[in-house]
Amino acid sequence: MAAGALQGKVALVTGGSRGIGRAVAQRLARDGAAVAVAYARDEAAADETVERIRKDGGRAFALRAELGRHGDAARLWAAFDAAAGEHAPDGRLDIIVNNAGIGRSAPLASLTEDGFDEVFAVNVRAPFFIVQQGLARLRDGGRIVNVSSGAARLAMPEIIAYGATKGALDTFTLNLAKELGPRGITVNSVAPGIIDTDVNAGWLRGDPQAWAHAASLAALGRVGQPEDVADVVAFLVSDDARWVTGRVVDATGGSGL
Ligand SMILES: NC(=O)c1ccc[n+]([C@@H]2O[C@H](COP(=O)([O-])OP(=O)(O)OC[C@H]3O[C@@H](n4cnc5c(N)ncnc54)[C@H](OP(=O)(O)O)[C@@H]3O)[C@@H](O)[C@H]2O)c1
Repeated sequence: MAAGALQGKVALVTGGSRGIGRAVAQRLARDGAAVAVAYARDEAAADETVERIRKDGGRAFALRAELGRHGDAARLWAAFDAAAGEHAPDGRLDIIVNNAGIGRSAPLASLTEDGFDEVFAVNVRAPFFIVQQGLARLRDGGRIVNVSSGAARLAMPEIIAYGATKGALDTFTLNLAKELGPRGITVNSVAPGIIDTDVNAGWLRGDPQAWAHAASLAALGRVGQPEDVADVVAFLVSDDARWVTGRVVDATGGSGL
């Protein structure tokens, strides 16, 4: 994709401070977008992401908005307005990447109601209301990408509620695409497999056996990197993907084929 494909565009990436979201933020900025890097708690990581983008000649700003509580979407958009400044003086934008998500889940027998509510609140309810309350800001011809998971398609009972959140997110994608098509807005999900991010650090990094097992699950024979997902998101938000909407794009390196 040619550099500058997103020149003049404004993008919001939730969970943009670390992991997949950071790679997405960096890639969209490299393509020319001004990127709002939303995060929950780790201000240093968000600042580092913004710093990396600026050093690379890109435009970005950080905004703190913890998701998962009632009113979170309204607070996020208020934080966007407060932080965007010259990057989005009218509060409008072109791209929303709903990437923030938590993997906390448990098997059926031990999942609590609170645990269930928490993972659905961050992974499903927050993107739903971010979009609902962002629609008036999103320009016609815009893009929405929801970061889903291969766990929506592959049975993993050990994280049963997490998988269900991503299934719900994919159905949200489908319906939104129909609803927003008349405005020229495309909506797609990207479904990563196992990616080397902090969320997997505890069991994956530093354990050669776990690493080799994770690599063996993908037909392409390695563990995914955040950039493997970011490049797919970059395609979906570009003009090249203007005729693709309502889909789940698999980015698992061919897991479970
Ligand atoms: N890694 C994988 O193997 C994998 C596989 C399939 C799908 N995914 C999906 O990809 C997305 C990103 O995952 P990741 O592995 O890159 O995650 P990560 O490395 O754990 O990063 C999470 C990001 O989301 C933010 N975040 C976490 N909880 C939040 C909350 N309650 N409110 C707002 N922001 C919050 C974090 O901000 P703070 O640092 O400030 O907390 C951080 O920027 C998630 O939706 C995940 O389900 C990941």
